[in-house]
Amino acid sequence: MDASSRALFFLIFLPNIYLSSAQDDNQFIYNGFHGANLQLQAGAKIHPNGLLQLTNTSKQQVGHAFYKIPISFNTSSALIPFTSFSSIFIFAIVPELPNLSGHGMAFTISPSMDFSQAVASQYLGLFNIENFGNLSNHVLAIELDTMPNPEFEDINNNHVGIDVNSLKSVESAPVSYFSSEEGKNISLRLLSGDPMLLWIDYDAPQKTINVTVAPLRSKKPNRPLLSTPIDLSRFLLETMYVGFSAATGPVASDHYVLGWSFNKSGPAQDLEISKLPPLPPKRKISQKPTKIIVILPVVAIFVLVVVIGAVYFVRRKKYAEVREEWETEYGPQRFSYKNLYMATNGFKEKELLGAGGFGKVYRGTLPNSDAQIAVKRISHDSKQGMKEFVAEIAIMRRLRHRNLVQLLGYCRRKGELLLVYEYMPNGSLDKFLYSNKTPTLSWLHRFQVVKGVASALLYLHEEWEQVVLHRDVKSSNVLLDADLNGRLGDFGLARLYDHGTNPQTTHVVGTVGYLAPELSRTGRATNFTDVFAFGVFVLEVACGRRPIDLQAPPGEASLADWVLDCWRSGAILRVSDPKLEGTYLVEEMELVLKLGLLCSHPMPSMRPNMRQAVQYLEGNASMPEIQAERSVCTSIFSPSNETSNMVMSFPSSLEKYSSHYSLTSNESLIQKGR
Ligand SMILES: *[C@@H]1O[C@H](CO)[C@@H](O)[C@H](O)[C@H]1NC(C)=O
Ligand SMILES: *[C@@H]1O[C@H](CO)[C@@H](O)[C@H](O)[C@H]1NC(C)=O
Ligand SMILES: *[C@@H]1O[C@H](CO)[C@@H](O)[C@H](O)[C@H]1NC(C)=O
Ligand SMILES: *[C@@H]1O[C@H](CO)[C@@H](O)[C@H](O)[C@H]1NC(C)=O
Ligand SMILES: *[C@@H]1O[C@H](CO)[C@@H](O)[C@H](O)[C@H]1NC(C)=O
Ligand SMILES: *[C@@H]1O[C@H](CO)[C@@H](O)[C@H](O)[C@H]1NC(C)=O
Ligand SMILES: *[C@@H]1O[C@H](CO)[C@@H](O)[C@H](O)[C@H]1NC(C)=O
Repeated sequence: MDASSRALFFLIFLPNIYLSSAQDDNQFIYNGFHGANLQLQAGAKIHPNGLLQLTNTSKQQVGHAFYKIPISFNTSSALIPFTSFSSIFIFAIVPELPNLSGHGMAFTISPSMDFSQAVASQYLGLFNIENFGNLSNHVLAIELDTMPNPEFEDINNNHVGIDVNSLKSVESAPVSYFSSEEGKNISLRLLSGDPMLLWIDYDAPQKTINVTVAPLRSKKPNRPLLSTPIDLSRFLLETMYVGFSAATGPVASDHYVLGWSFNKSGPAQDLEISKLPPLPPKRKISQKPTKIIVILPVVAIFVLVVVIGAVYFVRRKKYAEVREEWETEYGPQRFSYKNLYMATNGFKEKELLGAGGFGKVYRGTLPNSDAQIAVKRISHDSKQGMKEFVAEIAIMRRLRHRNLVQLLGYCRRKGELLLVYEYMPNGSLDKFLYSNKTPTLSWLHRFQVVKGVASALLYLHEEWEQVVLHRDVKSSNVLLDADLNGRLGDFGLARLYDHGTNPQTTHVVGTVGYLAPELSRTGRATNFTDVFAFGVFVLEVACGRRPIDLQAPPGEASLADWVLDCWRSGAILRVSDPKLEGTYLVEEMELVLKLGLLCSHPMPSMRPNMRQAVQYLEGNASMPEIQAERSVCTSIFSPSNETSNMVMSFPSSLEKYSSHYSLTSNESLIQKGR
């Protein structure tokens, strides 16, 4: 048989042999990447010595290197079901500055080598803000992450994670390996700049992926770092590309791969350390002192020590925090003051977003990531009750709702508490309602906002594992995200005033105009006091007026009373915000106004609960009729004359106050704080 007919024979009569030769493409080994069959993209390059570099220390850079031949993973043929695979590679991450790094790298299995839509930083050159988490990505990544990104719930700045279609890891662990000699786990630091080994073993019948790390030259540890049950056949497509991706952000690292083996027919072969290309020499961090002059350096060092000591002292004071024993369990929630200080450019006026009842709010960008945050600085002198409040922050951090502003964490200093929230690009709703500088919000958006806030309150009141009262619902506490969805902020903050206050005084927290009448009698916040404030808020959104406007024409100062008057006289649409110029759906406007009146009813028992309010708004239930003869004057303030006097005694800038009033034993409302 000559060569060509033998080839024909193989092709036609021995399909199994053909198959096994095809499978040879499903394995490769590279001890260094000389002449490797890799497709390099963006910042990736192969050094003359065979070292694969994914990124250098340029900022906001990505780099990709993929094996050019697609690997068949999920053959639909019944003969070859979804198969196992195994891979070993040796990598090194060398940060530009010690302990400050780019975002990390990932071993990646992807249906395509086209990552033109992917972005750098925390997306690791794999995804972008739109598509991360999308099931149609079909991407598996083993991330070596050197940056904690709160949005992906990263555990620290030194972890290995298994990611499917997203950067929120299915499972992750701080980098360590099990040493059988020492019988314990030993941690490794990704940013050490030293080469490390990583094994990935997927067992298809068991549907388990194991990831193991170890320092160079050590044997494979006999316990994996991660052993995660996952059925990859559900995620991966038939033909996939395997390779690496890496990304830098505002700070950068060199990401290197020294060698790589991949196998779909058995365990991946060990790499030969002696054949691997060396890494470039380490960056010099400090110059070696010359011995020419002896005295000068000694003097210089002495001066330096004094200066550094002084600087250290000043800085320590500048960044000083209060940390107590009991707080260790809230470690992950805690931001360092230094980071927050840097994020907000030292709490510059320029970054000031606003000043609310609880304190000033600053915009910031966390160092080492692009995450935008809002930092609320609250002065709080009492140490008492702090423990309980921090415990509640930890709880509030777990609240997740699309209409709530996400609380990310906190920091504590002497006399001060800092809360870190997700940043809302469009600011607070009251600006849209009252400022001439911002465009008017259309009815469509307003209705959406009302529904959003209602569903957020329903979540806080009924749908979460505990009842959370908001206690300060108002338009300036509703923020608008990039798509103009309403997001309720500051939930639960009122509790800060409960802990550690004088038991002789009951603090009524809230804002004048939104306080339910029974609050000033009982001092007790309930679901129904929140509903009352929600009612006032709803009227505010529909009418574009503050709850109390002392500059309004006579008889219209109290918004709720004026709406009620117009309702009685059958001209309720008169109250709709003139800035809308009549462009709204009459039924929706009437619904919202009626709901506002019903919720801000002076009698708690007449108000709906939030579940009913949501049903009315969604049109799933019809609202009861409003009794026209409700007493109007009491709807905003407490029934006693004293309190009405109080209102009159305030300057006309009353509307500017969004502050806290404490109700002392002699029953008068006294302004507390600003
Ligand atoms: C990184 O690589 C790019 C090209 O791949 C080059 O333009 C840039 O100067 C390099 N940056 C550094 C810091 O070496
Ligand atoms: C970097 O961080 C590690 C652990 O957090 C620490 O041991 C090491 O001293 C730090 N190195 C520098 C140069 O700051
Ligand atoms: C997921 O990606 C597909 C294809 O790019 C797109 O059609 C779809 O809308 C995306 N889904 C989501 C929820 O973004
Ligand atoms: C070592 O690490 C693994 C994986 O994180 C963990 O399951 C195990 O309990 C640790 N063992 C010891 C002795 O700390
Ligand atoms: C994964 O790790 C588990 C636990 O050590 C082990 O039982 C299993 O055999 C490992 N699987 C593979 C494919 O290495
Ligand atoms: C992978 O193969 C399994 C079994 O043949 C099949 O059920 C599954 O739909 C396949 N997955 C994809 C993404 O094609
Ligand atoms: C793949 O596994 C087979 C079977 O164990 C082995 O003969 C082969 O050398 C391996 N190839 C690579 C590149 O690891």
